[in-house]
Amino acid sequence: MFYLEIEGNSKLSGEVAISGAKNAALPLIASTLIMKDDVVLENIPNVADIKTLATLLVNLGAKCDFLDSHILKINTNNINSTKANYDIVRKMRASILVLGPLLARFGHCEVSLPGGCAIGQRPIDLHLSALEKMGANIEIKQGYVVATAPNGLHGADIVFDKITVTGSENIIMAAALAHGTTRLTNVAKEPEVVQLCEVLADVGVYIEGIGTNELTIKGTGQNLITSKNIRVIPDRIEAGTYLCAGAITNSKITITNANANHLKAILTKFNEMGFGIEINDDKITILPTDKIKPVEIVTTEYPGFPTDMQAQFMALALIADGVSVIDERLFENRFMHVSELSRMGADIRLNGHIASIYGGEKLNAADVMATDLRASSALVLAALASDGTSKVHRIYHLDRGYENLEIKLAELGAKIKRLEE
Ligand code: UD1
Repeated sequence: MFYLEIEGNSKLSGEVAISGAKNAALPLIASTLIMKDDVVLENIPNVADIKTLATLLVNLGAKCDFLDSHILKINTNNINSTKANYDIVRKMRASILVLGPLLARFGHCEVSLPGGCAIGQRPIDLHLSALEKMGANIEIKQGYVVATAPNGLHGADIVFDKITVTGSENIIMAAALAHGTTRLTNVAKEPEVVQLCEVLADVGVYIEGIGTNELTIKGTGQNLITSKNIRVIPDRIEAGTYLCAGAITNSKITITNANANHLKAILTKFNEMGFGIEINDDKITILPTDKIKPVEIVTTEYPGFPTDMQAQFMALALIADGVSVIDERLFENRFMHVSELSRMGADIRLNGHIASIYGGEKLNAADVMATDLRASSALVLAALASDGTSKVHRIYHLDRGYENLEIKLAELGAKIKRLEE
């Protein structure tokens, strides 16, 4: 197993290029299941989760060829299985994204239930009840969602009880191939959901309301969609994480290939903490500050502050001058990084879903263990600001979603090495 060795107290400088968004690429890859012939996706991040979904598609009979490490060509014309096995789904919950497309296209599929994960229970009831409204018969058998709709799915009026990102994406893809019109209310508006809609609209699927929380989608009646080339949007969470690296080392760094429009809530919090931000087309620069102020953060759905940036800002709050408060509203168990940060000298007090972070204590280096993807990056950030040399173990979590993290950080001047236990 690999770990990262990080020398703290370094200053960073220079530029780092942001990769394509993992969470946009995953639904776009799943959407090739409702498309015919070759589909070429560009700006695909070179991370483990993408390979996991590509493997899932290959197991179903699709052809997936990486033309280079960032361009993926997929052809799903000859799919010969509609079963997504447990061994893949357990590696990545987002595998559930094949459920809507497979069911809409073939009228049946079996997808392993993803189960819980480190950050909470994470049910998929909203995906399932929406598909039932569209005419699916759903049973849970031996850990699998067994879904059938022999004559295809039909349009329906669906109100999501809660905003769900992958749930919205699943149903948008299902609706695009359904018979008739689907009206979705309380849909997620995350940029990744918007890109999925834009890609489908661009190839002729009628979708009204893109970018709002109400969508009207006219299905093609099980006619597969002819695609165009797709370019994945920049990863706003990777972008925010590198800006945090600049902030936590109080350095001036620039991220390139970023989309500042997707980062408004995050950039506002940097400003509130005292950091200057300069935006120049697709470049964002963070500037050092004399005094790092504490911050109050509530995680909510887009355009609010993303839960996927909560752990990184918690690490940053540790060096602020005062007490910061983070209210995690989306996931019930997303504070697993707190006990690891405490091992580095952090004073963080938890009260249910609210964390109070007592900033200003100097962090010390330690051996720490990554628990989930974003928690792992928080540990790396804290290590950059600590006295001494830290080791971050179990970095397979990081590899799921950050492309070449240690190489990119080293380019910025961090003293970081990937080593084998
Ligand atoms: C996606 C992102 C993840 C991010 C999360 C919230 C991908 C691949 N993953 O995850 O990085 O942290 O959005 O922005 O895009 N819920 C239910 N029933 C459901 C579905 C969800 O109760 O059927 C609840 C969840 O438990 C959670 C909330 O709704 O409390 C939001 O979850 P959801 O938006 O579905 O997260 P994911 O799509 O799994």
